[in-house]
Amino acid sequence: MSLLIKNGRVITATDDYQADILVQGEKIVAIGKDLPAHDAEIIDASGLLVMPGGIDPHVHLDMPFMGTFSSDTHETGTRAALHGGTTTVIDFVLQKQGHSLREALDEWNSRASGTAVGDYSFHMAVTDFNPDTKAEIKTMVEQEGITSFKTFMAYKGALMIDDRQMTDLMQEVRQQGGMVTVHATNGDVIDYLVAKHVAEGKTSPLYHYLSQPEVTEAEASARFTDLANYTGCPGYIVHMTCEGALNAVRNATRRNQKVYVETCIQYLLLDASKYDQGFESAKWVMSPPLREAKDQETLWAGINQGLVNIVATDHCPFMWEQKLMGKDNFAKIPNGHPAIENRMELLFSEGVNKNRISLNKYVEVACTNPAKIFGMFPKKGTIAIGSDADIILFDPKEQHTISAATHHMNVDYSAYEGWPLTGRVKTVLLRGKVAVDKGECLVPKGYGQFIKRNKVSGKI
Ligand code: URP
Ligand code: ZN
Ligand code: ZN
Repeated sequence: MSLLIKNGRVITATDDYQADILVQGEKIVAIGKDLPAHDAEIIDASGLLVMPGGIDPHVHLDMPFMGTFSSDTHETGTRAALHGGTTTVIDFVLQKQGHSLREALDEWNSRASGTAVGDYSFHMAVTDFNPDTKAEIKTMVEQEGITSFKTFMAYKGALMIDDRQMTDLMQEVRQQGGMVTVHATNGDVIDYLVAKHVAEGKTSPLYHYLSQPEVTEAEASARFTDLANYTGCPGYIVHMTCEGALNAVRNATRRNQKVYVETCIQYLLLDASKYDQGFESAKWVMSPPLREAKDQETLWAGINQGLVNIVATDHCPFMWEQKLMGKDNFAKIPNGHPAIENRMELLFSEGVNKNRISLNKYVEVACTNPAKIFGMFPKKGTIAIGSDADIILFDPKEQHTISAATHHMNVDYSAYEGWPLTGRVKTVLLRGKVAVDKGECLVPKGYGQFIKRNKVSGKI
């Protein structure tokens, strides 16, 4: 089966040109002017941007967390991602303390395999690093194609590891050719502030925000960066929100250290005024919390400075009823917000259309860098001969509005309700198949494939 995408404007992280793209089977096999159709089915992309499928390297699907499960499964979450132009996601396997990495991976495989609609991979979250876990790192990298190991410097008593475990893990991961990624906030200080606020009867969502001040993130980001430098381990900071944390990474560039940085769409677009709405604010209870206007400016600038490499979502949706678990105590509100479907269109509308980033930068941070940093390039993340035909056709002019009434995520509110967008995903190809067209998902449950990833390959 062949497809010929004709008359589109092809955008990659580096190029911008008019061309046709020929797809055979799962791959792109030719790119050129006026390619002959032969027996290929023609897709007319006149007036549309033709870009690589988005890659969201930070999503939590069907994840047990804070006494409940995130409400999107691998089926509903990857389908919603496809509707929004994201063809591949990286989800998090969570090791249970006292249990092996293998047990956790088996559990996640049983949930995702045969159910995912879009392509997916896994990070392995190490929550209990000990001699047994250490022995499993090599197998994860060599046999399972899981080359990134997530750590939490917060969520004390649940997911957090200490600096001793962090250092030991970094040394092992470096040896095996992987990368350590981190939720970088100071768990002890947050724990203290949460307990203090609750003891004082300050239990509304506002106190979630006030329990995680910027210093908790800046301090942990600097500590993580120093430990990565000391051990020589490639490091990546997830969901960075603020100026103080980015300055820690900026400082490290002076010794020619590269720590990769991810921010998320919400930290670029939303701010802490969302915590002034009483319990309604629970919709935006996430960790780290939303910050200030000055932090948004720093993050946008950081993208253009090459310090912020990726814009992800940290998609971790909960139904309103689940959020109500914390109606009397912010510390019991499940942390996270839904965005997997909205990232590509929001970033285009607010980033490219408002001249904050270029079109090439857009593709770089939403598609290409996630593939490069996480060992999937050039199979994923670009438009090139031999790459997977993961392609989106995007109308840069169409106007529409975000609403829970029309989104495909399994969550009963939108964190961006009523947000006006200019730019819309029209058609999505995943490995050569038309996966979404005219608002319909055309590939079945189970079409999504697990993507084994390569070892980490130096600086990008
Ligand atoms: O609030 C968040 N971010 N929930 C998901 C878990 C995490 O810390 O990434
Ligand atoms: Zn986190
Ligand atoms: Zn997360």
